[in-house]
Formats: sequence, structure tokens, C-alpha cells
Amino acid sequence: MARVAGKVALVTGGASGIGRATAGLLAREGATVVLSDLQDEAGERAAAEIAAEITADVGSARYLHHDVTDEAAWEAVIGAVVEDHGGLDILVNNAGVGGNGLPIDEMPMAVWRQCLAVNLDGVFLGVKHGIRAMKERGGAIINTSSILGIVGLPLTANYAASKGGVRLLTKTAAIECAARGLPIRVNSVHPGFIDTPMVDGAIQLRGPELKQQIETLQPTGSLGEPMDIAEGILYLASDAAKFVTGSELVIDGGYLAR
Ligand SMILES: NC(=O)c1ccc[n+]([C@@H]2O[C@H](COP(=O)([O-])OP(=O)(O)OC[C@H]3O[C@@H](n4cnc5c(N)ncnc54)[C@H](O)[C@@H]3O)[C@@H](O)[C@H]2O)c1
Repeated sequence: MARVAGKVALVTGGASGIGRATAGLLAREGATVVLSDLQDEAGERAAAEIAAEITADVGSARYLHHDVTDEAAWEAVIGAVVEDHGGLDILVNNAGVGGNGLPIDEMPMAVWRQCLAVNLDGVFLGVKHGIRAMKERGGAIINTSSILGIVGLPLTANYAASKGGVRLLTKTAAIECAARGLPIRVNSVHPGFIDTPMVDGAIQLRGPELKQQIETLQPTGSLGEPMDIAEGILYLASDAAKFVTGSELVIDGGYLAR
């Protein structure tokens, strides 16, 4: 049985990595999926590939250009989703950037701000406009944090601060919605190191020995796959998680268990 049949979902950062996998899984599980990103070519291609993968008579995928740091863009994208598909049931705030790997005392303000703008301001704007769109009909918001939203790691100050912010923004939004009687669940997912272009980018920046370091940091000895995270997001988005709000779902190959 399709687990999100008939629901309308928006997945930010849907052109690549975890967002691409999540958009595909939600569509295969029956959702009408809008994936948004800055990378238009990759986004259009992802939507076309996902549409071709759908075998059931429910589920669809389309792409919209969207800069998550821009509030007017959020209004336009959510406005288009609601107008074209009748509402919004699932919002996955997944778009994100890495942190550049600088020590704190060498980090220019612009590098700090750029990471916070996408990873934290972007999620704040998504939660704000997501709640507005879901107020009447209810819905589920899933914010992508990280293991680095729970514990620190050297050379990730901007990234970890942004992801720690996402964790508590999520919990606050969850209890705020519940206290106001709004039927909206808000949860965060906390991936460990996952094999995506973001991690590839960090390896290119800091050298191939980083890959080995990352693999040894994970108790399982390997990186996770985007679909490992997509499955958790699907659960939180589905009615199977109807009693789950304000929670943090860690999917990390045991990284935080030590
Ligand atoms: N890969 C990992 O190991 C890992 C671990 C923990 C958390 N995460 C988080 O998972 C999420 C997805 O990351 P990924 O690994 O799939 O990386 P990715 O680079 O493959 O995908 C991120 C996507 O976000 C898009 N994006 C960046 N800035 C944007 C903006 N301003 N507006 C709209 N889209 C924008 C990018 O174009 C890209 O398509 C991120 O929030 C990331 O921080 C990743």
C-alpha cells in the first residue's frame, strides 16, 4: 500500500543527494512531489527521472526553481504548489550547504553567514511558510539536521551551529503548533555521513584521506546511502508517525552511539 498516497509534498534541495532520493521515494509511495533547488538542469532531470520511475497510477514529480534563503521565493513556490495541487501536506526542508572546513579563528564572517543563511534561515523560512500553508488542513514538516546538530566536530563550527539551530527550531515549532491546536507535526532527521555530492565536495576540498577518516568515524565502517535517510523521512511524513512530533530521528550507522 502506498504510504503517502494523495499527499502533496515539497522537497527542497531535491536535485541532488538525499533530497533527490527523498523526492523519488515519496513519489513512488503515491505523493504529488514538487522538488525545488537552485540547480535547474539537475532538478528538471531528477523530476523527469522520478516521473519515469513511477509505476502505480498515483504519484508525480515536477521541478521548481527556488532559493531557500529568499522569503519572496518561498511565497512564490508554496503559492504555486497550493494553487496547482490544492494544498501542501508534507514539507521536507532538506536544502543545505557544507561549512568550508575552516577553524573558527580563521573563518571570515561571510563564510559563517552563508552557511547559516542556507541551513538555518532557509529552514526557518520553510517552517514559517509551511505552517501558514498547513494551518487548516494539517501536515508534516521534516527538517534535515545532522549528527553535527547534536555533537560537535573540529572545523565545522558554522555547519554544526546551523544544524544545532535546526534541531531546536524543530522542537520549538512542534510544541508551538501543538499548543496552538494546529494539526502540524514537525520533526528533524539527523544523518551521519552519507555518500552524496556534499561529502564528495568536502573530500575534494580537504583531500582523499578525509574519506578514510570519515569511514573510520562511523562504527559501521562505511558511509550511508541517500535512501537510508529517505526511508526515515518517509516514515515521519506518513500517517504511521501520527503521534511523532518534536522528535529527532538519528540515522547514522551508530556514530552517536559511542
Ligand atoms: N551527506 C551527508 O553526509 C549529510 C549528513 C548530515 C546532514 N546532511 C544534510 O542533508 C541535506 C542534503 O544534503 P546532501 O548531502 O544530499 O547534499 P547535496 O549537495 O547532494 O544536496 C543539497 C542540495 O541543496 C541545494 N541547495 C543548496 N543551496 C540551496 C539554496 N540556497 N536554495 C535551494 N537549494 C539549495 C543544492 O543545489 C543541492 O542540490 C543538507 O541539509 C545536508 O546538510 C547531509
